[in-house]
Amino acid sequence: MSQSQKDLLKRASKVLARIDNSYAYFPEDETPVFNRGEGIYLYDPDGNQYLDMVAGYGTVNQGHTHPHIVQALLKQANLLAHTSATLSNVKVELAEKLAELSPIPDTLVHFDLGGARATEGAKVLVRAYTGKPKVISFSNSFHGRSSGSLSMYNADQFQFLYNVQKDYYTAPYPYCRRCPFGKKSCDTCNWECLGKVQEILREHKDVGGIIVEPALGARGYIFPPMDFFKRLRRICDEHSVLLISDEIQMGMGRLGAMFASEMYGVVPDLILLAKSLAGSMWPLSAILGRRAIMNSVRPGTLGSTFAGAPLACGVALASIEVFEMENLCERSRTLGKYFLERLEERCKGYPLIVHIEGRGLAIGIEFELPNGDPATAEVERLHHMALRKRLLLQRGGPAKNMINMIPALNITAEEIDDVVDRFVELLNDLLLEPQVVENMAASAASAAAAAHDARQA
Ligand SMILES: Cc1ncc(COP(=O)(O)O)c(C=O)c1O
Repeated sequence: MSQSQKDLLKRASKVLARIDNSYAYFPEDETPVFNRGEGIYLYDPDGNQYLDMVAGYGTVNQGHTHPHIVQALLKQANLLAHTSATLSNVKVELAEKLAELSPIPDTLVHFDLGGARATEGAKVLVRAYTGKPKVISFSNSFHGRSSGSLSMYNADQFQFLYNVQKDYYTAPYPYCRRCPFGKKSCDTCNWECLGKVQEILREHKDVGGIIVEPALGARGYIFPPMDFFKRLRRICDEHSVLLISDEIQMGMGRLGAMFASEMYGVVPDLILLAKSLAGSMWPLSAILGRRAIMNSVRPGTLGSTFAGAPLACGVALASIEVFEMENLCERSRTLGKYFLERLEERCKGYPLIVHIEGRGLAIGIEFELPNGDPATAEVERLHHMALRKRLLLQRGGPAKNMINMIPALNITAEEIDDVVDRFVELLNDLLLEPQVVENMAASAASAAAAAHDARQA
């Protein structure tokens, strides 16, 4: 850690509450502090370069400080930054652009401030349109931190503090590697997870919608079987409930298409976008939905002072232009495939890695100990070691035993090679850590004892 970073951390400890992820994600004295970003790189105040494989949890899909988006921000700031009680030209243009791209026929758009407010808005629309108060959501999902969004999914750690009303039923997400129904293979399963959705719908007549992430983000990265979304759509149609695709993290090209649901060939009733929508430069979210659903609430029901401000909309228009100028969805698909292949090739046979999976430029690497327990402590160690080597990674998975790679979508093949080289070096270093050696030996011994007991039985 550079001297300037240490000095800034000292000052932070005096004035900043350690509450949000920017300050509470790493140990207090190891939290990185940056003052500049460009493309897939972040820089500390002493000019040291870090490779950013987190991209603001999918907020910087166009890369840090993209010049086209910076120009648009400056231009819009000079023209018109805010109106509350009127429309702006850029708001209309952005809505037109999103409606044109949207897979939902006759899309209407509503803008808000961030992801949690978009999920809350979706809940309001479901209630208004269907007259039903509840939704089905999935285990290990994340839909935001606000009382409204938390009332839609199971996030026990927040329930008391946010005084959450439980307006949801939980179905298991298809986390096939650790199938909640104990199935060994997707080929032999009977879609028990969707069976649970149907059971809830049969038993409870107060469900108006199903909210789902196209791949688990904050608690992933975990990818459902390709057919999952289509089957879910069919169930929604059979029971006349709305399908809400929360694409706040997995949309905007992350899975290889502008809208993640497109990758699965499915048209949802509502699509939620945020994060990279305004190219990381201004908070903006959007609900895209069928006209009848969007018209089911009275004017004024949703909104916020800054929601859909001209500055945000001008920036978002430029951020979508970058997708078109740089072919980012196509890049996400081809470079994602390349990244995945390189990782698979180079990590093959590594003792702790049990699974590497990706769609587009969302890649999850799962770590387990020899006895099958999640290698949570090892992944935490790797995550911190990576930071010391100036590689910023995301730790994830329901058991926090995954390393996720979510770079900006304009990463190059050479940069991917560099990340993979550094990652493999780190993996080798990890196996030399005495605590890791000890844990692995203890776990291997317990696996051998269990195998012996099984043979005796
Ligand atoms: C899938 C998903 N939904 C909702 C949210 C909440 O978004 P925000 O943090 O902008 O409120 C997030 C944030 O990580 C997310 O990943």
